[in-house]
Formats: sequence, C-alpha cells, structure tokens
Amino acid sequence: MRLEHIPVMPDEVVAYSAPFDEQLRICDATLGGGGHTARFLELCSHCSVLGIDADEEMIARTRGRLGDDPRVHIVHGWFDEILPERGPFDRILMDLGVSMVHLRDPSRGFSLREDGPLDMRLDGRPGVETAEQLINRIGERELADIIYRYGEERYSRRIAAAICRDRRAATAGTAAFAETVRRAVPPAYRRGRLHPATRTFQAIRIAVNDELGRVERGVAAAARALAPGGRLIVISFHSLEDRIVKHSFRALAGSSTSDPKIPMVKDGGEYVVVTRKPVVPTDEERAENPASRSAKLRVLEKRKE
Ligand SMILES: C[S@@+](CC[C@H](N)C(=O)[O-])C[C@H]1O[C@@H](n2cnc3c(N)ncnc32)[C@H](O)[C@@H]1O
Repeated sequence: MRLEHIPVMPDEVVAYSAPFDEQLRICDATLGGGGHTARFLELCSHCSVLGIDADEEMIARTRGRLGDDPRVHIVHGWFDEILPERGPFDRILMDLGVSMVHLRDPSRGFSLREDGPLDMRLDGRPGVETAEQLINRIGERELADIIYRYGEERYSRRIAAAICRDRRAATAGTAAFAETVRRAVPPAYRRGRLHPATRTFQAIRIAVNDELGRVERGVAAAARALAPGGRLIVISFHSLEDRIVKHSFRALAGSSTSDPKIPMVKDGGEYVVVTRKPVVPTDEERAENPASRSAKLRVLEKRKE
C-alpha cells in the first residue's frame, strides 16, 4: 500500500512561485508530507522555509523526510493562529484539507472506506473535541444544519434524524456510521457515483476542525504577512473552500463583488488577483493522481511598494 502523499499541481505551484533566484522567504502553511517544500528546496538553494502543520504526527514524519536542513523551520499549529505572528514572506502556500496519509490511516477516522474510531481531528491536542463527541453533544437540528451547510447534502435532515435515533452510530466507528447514513438515504441515491456518506463525512470533518473559518482567517492573515511583491498560492479541494478563497481575494484586490464581469483589480490597490480563473490540474495529472481531481489553485500578489 502506498502511504505517501503526492503533491498536487507541483509544476503550477513552482511556476507561480518563480523566480527562485533570490533569497526567498517561503511559508508552507500546510506542510503535510513536505512534497511542495521539497521542490522549493531543490529549486532555491538560498531560501528559508517556515513549515506549519496542525497535525503533530504529520510533522514528526516530515521532519524525518526533510532531515536537518538548516533552511527549514517547522512549527506545529493552525496557520490562521501562527501567520499573524510571522512574516514577511515572499511566497506563502496553502494546500488545504487533509493528506492521503490521513485518509489511509483508519485510526484517524477520516475515511469511510476503512473502519476506525470516528475522530477526524487534525490537531489531536487534549481538549479538542472528536467527531464522535461532537455528534453526541449536539441536537438533531444542529447536526442537520452542519451536514447541509458543510456537506451541501440534500438529505441532511433524514441523515441527522437517523444518526440521532441511534446514537451508537457514531460510537461504533466509521464503518457503522457510514452504514447508518447509507440506510437513511433513498435507494436511488445509494447507487450514485459517490458513497452516500461522502458529503456527511466532509461536513463533520469541516465542523470538527473549523476548516472554513480557518481558511477565511488564514487567507486574511497570509495576505497581511506578504512582503511587497510577495505571492499567496492557495489550492482548495471543494467548492465551499474555493468560494471563500475567491471572495477573499476579490475583496483584498478592491472588489467585493463575485460578478466575473467586474474587473478584480482596482488601480492602485494593495493586492492583485493573478489568476482570473482558477488553475486546475491537467488531464494527465488527474489520471495519475485521482486525489487531484477537484483541486483549484488561485494566486494573490501584493504589489511592490
Ligand atoms: C493536503 S495536505 C498538504 C500536503 C503537502 N503540500 C505535501 O505536498 O505533502 C494538508 C496538510 O495541511 C494540514 N492542515 C490543514 N489545515 C490546516 C490549517 N488550518 N493549519 C495548519 N495545517 C493545516 C493538514 O494536517 C495536512 O497535513
């Protein structure tokens, strides 16, 4: 079984990060397995990289991979909490979500295909609520709202009702939980391309880790942490995240509208949206790395003074 994470759109990240001929100050705000950082280090002998990750286990693995490279400094924590204290950076990368290492480890509870505890925390420090604890604390209505809002799941009410009828659904682990969801939806929906619990899993994971709030605060903090001429590259994996990135970039560039006909760049504004449309993986990359299929890459630049 392959356990490593394949970096998404590595060539595009490199292209938007070029040129590498300066002493670039880079922040990899979602270090993960260090795949993108390894490319930066190959291309830029005099750079420095601050690597951030919310997951301590991931950090331990990646420290092993990157060794004692003096150009790299790794910090454990959430990027929206760390970035306001750091900077300036010439490049900041956010490659959002979880890595394949998370999805393939049943003990983390992210995957509906492997049985394990319903945990889903990226940051496992004591005091952070697991998915199981969250589901068993909140009422049916709140659960339905989470599944609807963060999963865009049309059967959110039925699913929440089924989970709340049998609270053991969450306690018995990911397989039992996925089965409860599957049984709650109409038969035709069960035969769709996606497993019928996919959207519910996404929603609960977003709620457990406050992923959307972190993206919103993180993008704002990253923009402030850019040096003049610096660039922020964000790769998102679902429409809820991409919408936040798109609107945040537009607002920073001086236009709060989502109307694509209205120009995003206001003359003299502090920021410029470099990618008018999101950049997506090539057909070749999608075929080779199916996990890249839904990726969208956007770039924001802070103008030179
Ligand atoms: C898609 S993976 C990054 C993969 C990495 N670019 C690579 O090539 O190996 C996302 C990583 O970011 C971390 N993460 C997600 N949201 C975060 C946040 N708000 N703050 C800090 N780390 C976060 C996850 O723990 C995960 O390890």
